[in-house]
Amino acid sequence: MTTTSHNILPADLEDLVARFDVRRTDAPRSEDERTSLLAKPKFGTVFTDHMARLTWRSADGWTDRRVEPYGPLQLDPATAVLHYAQEIFEGMKAYKHADGSVWTFRPEQNARRYARSAHRLALPELSEEDFLASIAALVRTDIEWVPDGEDSSLYLRPFMFASEAFLGVRPALQVEHLVIASPVGPYFAGGVKPVSIFLSEKYHRAGPPGGTGDAKFGGNYAASLLPQQEAQQRGFDQVCFLDGAESTYLEELGGMNIFLVMADGTVHTPGLGSILEGITRKSIIQLARDRGHEVVERRIPVRELVEGIESGRVKEFFACGTAAVVTPIGRLASSDFDVEVNGGASGELTMALRSELTDIQYGRADDRHGWMMRLA
Ligand code: PLP
Ligand code: COI
Repeated sequence: MTTTSHNILPADLEDLVARFDVRRTDAPRSEDERTSLLAKPKFGTVFTDHMARLTWRSADGWTDRRVEPYGPLQLDPATAVLHYAQEIFEGMKAYKHADGSVWTFRPEQNARRYARSAHRLALPELSEEDFLASIAALVRTDIEWVPDGEDSSLYLRPFMFASEAFLGVRPALQVEHLVIASPVGPYFAGGVKPVSIFLSEKYHRAGPPGGTGDAKFGGNYAASLLPQQEAQQRGFDQVCFLDGAESTYLEELGGMNIFLVMADGTVHTPGLGSILEGITRKSIIQLARDRGHEVVERRIPVRELVEGIESGRVKEFFACGTAAVVTPIGRLASSDFDVEVNGGASGELTMALRSELTDIQYGRADDRHGWMMRLA
C-alpha cells in the first residue's frame, strides 16, 4: 500500500479528509475473498467494504462526514426519493499506476457537474471540497480494492437522494450523499470491439433543453431502459437518442456521448443543451484539438450521419464515457436504414484517442493538461 503524503491534495482538502470519521467494518472480506472478487468483476456487481456518507438537513447543512461499513440502507416507505425520484449521481474511476499510487481523473469536473445536477433537481449543493474529500476518504479506506489489471479500475459512484419521509411534493428537507466503490474491468464483455446502435425514433431520453438531459439525474436512466431493452431485443448493443423537440438531431447514447470523424479529418459532436456534458467528451475534444483536428460542436441531423456513412464522408463513429471509455460504433440502424461504419471495424483516430486517454489515466503518458489528481 502506498502511504499518503501531505502534499498530494491541497492542504484544506487534506484537512477535510481528516474530518471524516472512519468507522471500519468489523467483518472485512479476507484477502483471498477480495482477490477472487477482483479477478473478473462484472460491471457494478462487486462492492468494497465501506462507503462514504454525509447527511444534509435544511436546518444544519451538510454534517456527519463519515466512512462506514458498506451495507443496506434502512428507508421509511414514505422516503421522498421512492416517490418523486429526487436523485442524482456521478461516475468516476480510481486508477492504480505502476508505482502503486492511486489517481483519479478530473474529479473537480465531476464535483461541478454534481452541483449543477443538484441545482436542477432542487437538491442541496455539496461543496467541491466535500465531494473530493468523500471520494478520497473512501478510496484511502478501501485502497486494497483498487485493481491493477489491464483496463481495470475502481469505479466510484457518488449519489445524492431525498431521504426525508414525507409525501408532499416539494424539495426534501433531509438528503443523503453517499459514495460507493466497485472494482471494474472492461465495460463491454469481449473488450474493445465495435458496438451496434439502434436509433430510437419512438422515445426520447430527457426532453428538449429545459428538461433534465443535462443533469445526471436517475430518472433519465429510468426513461432509457425501455428503448434500451427494445434495442437489445432487436439484437443491438445500445440505443441512440434524438433531440426531444424535433426528433431530427443526434443526442447521445443512454450512458455515453458520441463523436463522428470525417474523411476531411474534422471531428464533430452534438452540441450541449439537452445532453449530458461528459468529462470524457470534453477531454476527447481537447486531445483531438491537440492533434490538430478541428472539432465542431453542433446540431447533427441523423440523416446527415447516415448519408455520410454511406458516401464515405463519415469515416468513424464512436461513443465515450467514464464507464465505457472510448468505444467504436460499427453499425447504426433504425426502422428504415441499417448502415455499417468503417466496414464494421474500429476507427484509427478512435483507437488512437482511446490509447492516449487511457495512457494518461493509467500514468503511462505525461499528464500535460494536469488532469490527474492523486488520491493515495
Ligand atoms: N452521457 C450520459 C447520458 C452518461 O450517463 C454519461 C456517463 O456518465 C456520459 C454521457 C459520459 O459522461 P462522462 O464522460 O463524464 O462519464
Ligand atoms: C458512467 O460512465 O459513469 C455512467 O454513468 C454510465 C452508466 C454506467 C450510467
